[in-house]
Amino acid sequence: STKMILDLDTGVDDALALALAICDPRVDLIGVIASYGNTLVETSAQNTLNLLHLLGENDVPVYLGESHSSTTDHFDVMPISKAIHGEHGVGNLSLATATRKIEQTSGIQFLIDMAHKYQDELIYVPTGPLTNMAKALKIDPEISHLIGNTTLMGGALTVPGNVTPFTEANINQDPEAADLVFTTQENLTMVGLDVTLRTLLTKKDTQQWRELGTQAGTAYADLMDFYIEAYDRLDIDHRGAALHDPLAVAVAIDPSYVVTIPLNMRVTYDKDTKDYGRTIGDRERLLEPTTTNVAVSVNAKRFVRDFMDFMIAVL
Ligand code: BDR
Ligand code: CA
Repeated sequence: STKMILDLDTGVDDALALALAICDPRVDLIGVIASYGNTLVETSAQNTLNLLHLLGENDVPVYLGESHSSTTDHFDVMPISKAIHGEHGVGNLSLATATRKIEQTSGIQFLIDMAHKYQDELIYVPTGPLTNMAKALKIDPEISHLIGNTTLMGGALTVPGNVTPFTEANINQDPEAADLVFTTQENLTMVGLDVTLRTLLTKKDTQQWRELGTQAGTAYADLMDFYIEAYDRLDIDHRGAALHDPLAVAVAIDPSYVVTIPLNMRVTYDKDTKDYGRTIGDRERLLEPTTTNVAVSVNAKRFVRDFMDFMIAVL
């Protein structure tokens, strides 16, 4: 079956993406790379290990990625990230600590090695900043055409961003890295706010997880309820909370959930422009063969239904 690598800044919706990737039999999750973003990179890695333990999945290795963006030497978690994902990324839950440890190899090296090993068979799904991928591309530019497909959660083409009107959170963390990825990597799918803001989960849904009466069901319901309450409290959306990262996993496995347009993309990273961090069509490459499919609409009903079925099976 297809091999999948996740690159998570775990994170509530990253935790959902992880659960989905584990239980879909069409893919074999061969490893998770941790990124800074919703939390510090070490916290993100530990959250992932703890969640894997909670889900009874003790074989998937977890690797450390970069601890800060490619243009800075330090990273502080943004207050807004803490408000949405909790102080440590998992909705202020105290998950049991996994006994397993983070791998010694770096996440960047792991990605490069797996790109060479599996090539077309490999799907890479980053749902945090694109710093890890950009670094891997700088070290080994060959991976740009080796990896079968990269489906990323990030950016916004047809709707405003969620950090500023122009920028989405993952891209905003490291626009320069994102630009390198969009302008050099082949076979990209962009699952941005255009589609993820249309896939919402409510407390009625999480109640079904709670009613399973399992440890994982209760933990995931608590986790998601924190995130749904944050959406409400922060006036982001009162109808439910967005399934950003799990939608990227679902689209990576079954692209028919979304409608895409082929477009070569770039990212504005000049700090002095008001559209800093914007994902936009690359005018210079308008006539060149396209490398990115940008998702612009989604069958939200079908996705949420399938997502719920998978979650109930894994929890
Ligand atoms: C993205 O930003 C992160 O906070 C979420 O986990 C998601 O990947 C949404 O803009
Ligand atoms: Ca994320």
